[in-house]
Amino acid sequence: MFCQRDELKKQARQLLRDNHREGYSQQLKRNYSYTCPSPEAYPFQWFWDSCFHAIALSHLDLEQAKRELLSLVSVQEESGFCPHIILWEKPEWKYTLLNVIQGKNPLRPSYTALIQPPVLAFATLKVVEKDKGDGFLKEILPKIKRYYLWLLENRDPDKDNLISIISPYESGLDYKPAYDEVLDIKEPTRLSIFVAPRMIELRNLFLGHNLKKIFFRDHFNVEDVLVNVTLAQSLWALAKLCRFNKEGKESEKFERLAQNVEAAILTKCQGEDGLFYDLYSQNEVMVKVKTFTSLLPILLKTIDKTVVDNLVRDHLLNTGEFWLPYPVPSVAKSEPTFKPGKGPLWRGPTWINTNWFLVYGLWQHGYKEIACQIVEKSCALIQKSGFREYYNPLTGRGYGAHNFGWSTLIVDMIELVEDGKIRKTGSN
Ligand code: GLC
Repeated sequence: MFCQRDELKKQARQLLRDNHREGYSQQLKRNYSYTCPSPEAYPFQWFWDSCFHAIALSHLDLEQAKRELLSLVSVQEESGFCPHIILWEKPEWKYTLLNVIQGKNPLRPSYTALIQPPVLAFATLKVVEKDKGDGFLKEILPKIKRYYLWLLENRDPDKDNLISIISPYESGLDYKPAYDEVLDIKEPTRLSIFVAPRMIELRNLFLGHNLKKIFFRDHFNVEDVLVNVTLAQSLWALAKLCRFNKEGKESEKFERLAQNVEAAILTKCQGEDGLFYDLYSQNEVMVKVKTFTSLLPILLKTIDKTVVDNLVRDHLLNTGEFWLPYPVPSVAKSEPTFKPGKGPLWRGPTWINTNWFLVYGLWQHGYKEIACQIVEKSCALIQKSGFREYYNPLTGRGYGAHNFGWSTLIVDMIELVEDGKIRKTGSN
């Protein structure tokens, strides 16, 4: 069906090679091997980008996929925490301010104090499924378990099975308009959209990135739908990884944890219109802004068929909301904040990773035709505008970083819908 499959694969392989970085880090005193999201705009190792790169690499260069994930977890702290950015080399001055604010050790930042959507176990499962030996699994599994246990233990202050983020950047969806209300942005202008999250980060820095103090102050405490859906998806994957490693009890434990997270999303985050929304503050206020994350619970295993039908029929396929010429926009067209063109990130354009999530969810619940259409449209975007960071959902024009790493997820999407591989993955 996808006649350009081989060509896209070739281009993706080349891009990932060009963005590959390896060496010995003087600051972190260890070797590294990773793929940067984009050489100019994003030279460091980002957490969820690396997971996406590993998924694409699992089809193109399995050994590098393993090294990518091992580099990512190599800076894991004793507690289990893994940072959202690793600065393997001393950053150029133009990035310094950001890294000082977010840095775990602000005086000598080598990695940040933040998290990113926890897609690590799912990415690992995709790699392990391609791997013949079990050396990689044995090496990485204990670290991954510790990471998820840390998240559940430290990021769920109200113990409702939904983890919280403490900065918009932790969701990977930096300027998602759903955060405007949380950040008290009354007039979204380029300046206010940019400054408000930085103020939160400065506060976190002054609190020494101490989670107890940050949650107590309650300035930015968001139970984000994407973050929690990816948590559930990865806990299922982790259960499967434990089973591969013949750890039956552990596998059951992580399945139970996945079920708990799913139940919490399904009971607490659904609005009256059937869409899912983030909750913020200790009062768990629901932010009713329609973004692609409102659809993401279609990735859940235990979601009711009628809820999925409603999400797909009334919202995803609604031409006034998400079904635009180049779907799926990050914000519904019906929202006043919807901006399809270049501008602050995540306020309208289509991204390849969001399509990738939705394709898995649709496929899992039997919406194969719609999944194929999204894959075809994603191919069309890349053919028209290259591997860009994001695209105009009305015209297909590309914006932001060039040679953007996670847009190579197209390779995994094509593989999924062409070979029906979903039955063998952790999301099913
Ligand atoms: C932007 C994105 C974030 C991503 C990073 C590196 O900040 O919003 O999700 O991880 O760039 O690509």
